Amino acid sequence: MSTIYLETTKKLYKEAAEKPEIGLCCTTTPVWKLPGLDIPVIMQQMNYGCGSTVHPRDLTNNPRILYVGVGGGMELLQFAYFSRQKRGVIGVDVVDEMLAASERNFVEAEKINPWFHKEFVLLKKGNALNLLVEDSSIDCAAQNCLFNIFKKTELEQALKEMYRVLKPRGRLIMSDPICETEIPETLRNDERLRALCLSGSMPLKQYIKMITDVGFGTIEIRAKRPYRVLDPINYDTHKLIYLESVEICAIKDPMPTDGPCVFTGRSALYYGTDIFFDDGKGHVLMANQPLAVCDKTADALKALNRNDLFISESTWFYDGGGCC
Ligand SMILES: C[S@@+](CC[C@H](N)C(=O)[O-])C[C@H]1O[C@@H](n2cnc3c(N)ncnc32)[C@H](O)[C@@H]1O
Repeated sequence: MSTIYLETTKKLYKEAAEKPEIGLCCTTTPVWKLPGLDIPVIMQQMNYGCGSTVHPRDLTNNPRILYVGVGGGMELLQFAYFSRQKRGVIGVDVVDEMLAASERNFVEAEKINPWFHKEFVLLKKGNALNLLVEDSSIDCAAQNCLFNIFKKTELEQALKEMYRVLKPRGRLIMSDPICETEIPETLRNDERLRALCLSGSMPLKQYIKMITDVGFGTIEIRAKRPYRVLDPINYDTHKLIYLESVEICAIKDPMPTDGPCVFTGRSALYYGTDIFFDDGKGHVLMANQPLAVCDKTADALKALNRNDLFISESTWFYDGGGCC
């Protein structure tokens, strides 16, 4: 990993650990409100993510959770809310001051959440590019607004590391900015802007390809929201650059022989005269009932060119169920 990247990141997040920088990453996702969960104000001020990686449906059966890039610890507290076991959540960060800040914040959290013990979280110094975590030992791994800081080769390495530590069928849950507009090289190479999660993002399709290239067989796009704009007055760009944030869950399912299943919120509806339509490949559509389908199946059904099938566009909101 380039030393400039690390120096810039360490400096920026040391400052953000010592004095909360409200809006550093700017999330538009409301903070989880759950019965008995009280998030200390300091943690909310240090919310440096761009979405949420905490989804109750990922967290059944006492999962072992790994969270990389801890920030103020808010999402670790939310994960601990579901796991409630000693060292059930492992938090890794490369910046000492950030680890110390989240440790302090957990003491505050303990005071206002009777169910919470700071031993539920194990904080470790470490690097996303070389996780000191055993192979196939984690049920749920998460990162929020960290991977977009990396350049392509670092991102490949970080994804490989997450894949390595996950158990078969384990889940990598991520929230990151994406950008469908070309980001000028001057901005892309600006280490500070990258560290601020502003100039390192890539188009969603390219991001998905990088994730599936390391082996994840199933991808869920769970949310897509407006994030930021980089405008010609404030940034070194001639055109307005629009950034969005996405929530992605990558599942360590075996890779299907015909390629990964990527769910982007598409559905298929059959409106013919029969009770159902069966494509002979495991997809049965009951008359006028939507079936959530992955993009591969959506495209295959569309290619049948039938006048009794409707295939919806991506909603970028997929919350389970359906084909594959
Ligand atoms: C944008 S902040 C996000 C913090 C947190 N995930 C949140 O949502 O509030 C990025 C975090 O990643 C940490 N970080 C940066 N580079 C890292 C690396 N190579 N390995 C582990 N952590 C890293 C920073 O110290 C910081 O805590």
